[in-house]
Amino acid sequence: MAEKVKKIALLTGGGDCPGLNAVIRAVTRTAILQYGYEVYGYKFGYRGLYNNDLVPLTLESVSGILHRGGTILYSSNKDNLFDYQVEEDGKIVKKDVSDVGVENLKKEGIDTLVVIGGDGTLTSARDFARKGVNVIGVPKTIDNDLEATDVTFGFNTAIEIATEALDRLHTTAESHHRIMLLEVMGRNAGWIALESGIAGSADVILIPEIPYDINKIVDKIRQREAEGKPFSIIVVAEGAKPLNGEVVVSKVVADSPDPIRLGGIANKLAIDLENLIKNHEVRSTVLGHIQRGGNTSTYDRILSTRYGVAAVELINEGKFGNMVCLKGDAISYESLENVIGKTKDVNPDGELVTVAKKIGISFGD
Ligand code: F6P
Repeated sequence: MAEKVKKIALLTGGGDCPGLNAVIRAVTRTAILQYGYEVYGYKFGYRGLYNNDLVPLTLESVSGILHRGGTILYSSNKDNLFDYQVEEDGKIVKKDVSDVGVENLKKEGIDTLVVIGGDGTLTSARDFARKGVNVIGVPKTIDNDLEATDVTFGFNTAIEIATEALDRLHTTAESHHRIMLLEVMGRNAGWIALESGIAGSADVILIPEIPYDINKIVDKIRQREAEGKPFSIIVVAEGAKPLNGEVVVSKVVADSPDPIRLGGIANKLAIDLENLIKNHEVRSTVLGHIQRGGNTSTYDRILSTRYGVAAVELINEGKFGNMVCLKGDAISYESLENVIGKTKDVNPDGELVTVAKKIGISFGD
């Protein structure tokens, strides 16, 4: 017999991602319309749980947010309650304050916590489940790098934006006979670069999973020149690196559980390529957080809605400690115990890379 649940709360953690609002809306609407639950949202992820900073979510408060990127609950990618920064005797120290979160849930009579986040946020969700909290996870990240689900919401919006950027770079590259680099996000996975590169007709795609040789990129540019195409488009994942080389780090966010921020590879490559190719100017564009902002794509609105509805169904069935996921065409779920720390990289010998290579795209290898 499933446990009876009356009050649920949501939080969004980690970097924001298009589709968060669509999940919040779907959870809230399903919970209220189908089961009559009371729904709340903690502000700024786990920090809100620690500070007991929560707001009621109603049909009215989630109205008009389906298409909007960002999160009406705000987010933080620094606040891990199992290793939380607090001030003690005038000093900043890190402590496990997760009991405060558990107490706050009890105090408010919250039966279930719906955690919407990537690997870091879901790791804490698993740890709260281990402490006996009823938790349901929903996977988000534009990087699409979680093994447990075929697709994370946010990824589709990111590749739509990156593809449009590549389309726009084509016309200006052609006008000036330039080499144009577009740097996209993705952390240590090349999915955004790979899929936007194929859709946006890139000539070269550089991804972390296939270290590149700059001379091979030059060969591709020369080959295109010989074919009467004196311009080229290169999409480079922020985590791409040369053979026997290292990634470019843009920033270290010291108080973040995952402190390394990648970025800068396109600028570096632009300089290196211009030194090798004397007859073309090389320009670089860093797409950055534009990939995460603005409106959510149609695909992500639907996927997020499916995830949100599925999360509430799991609550209703008492199937706690799980994360909703997509397997093929079907929405499913996996134990949080099995999903944490398992990333999904691009397979260098996989179908998508092979398809791209067969139509002449270079990976610099
Ligand atoms: O994980 C999502 C992501 O956008 C990565 O693609 C990127 O490396 C990182 O977050 C950027 O983090 P921040 O928003 O903290 O700069």
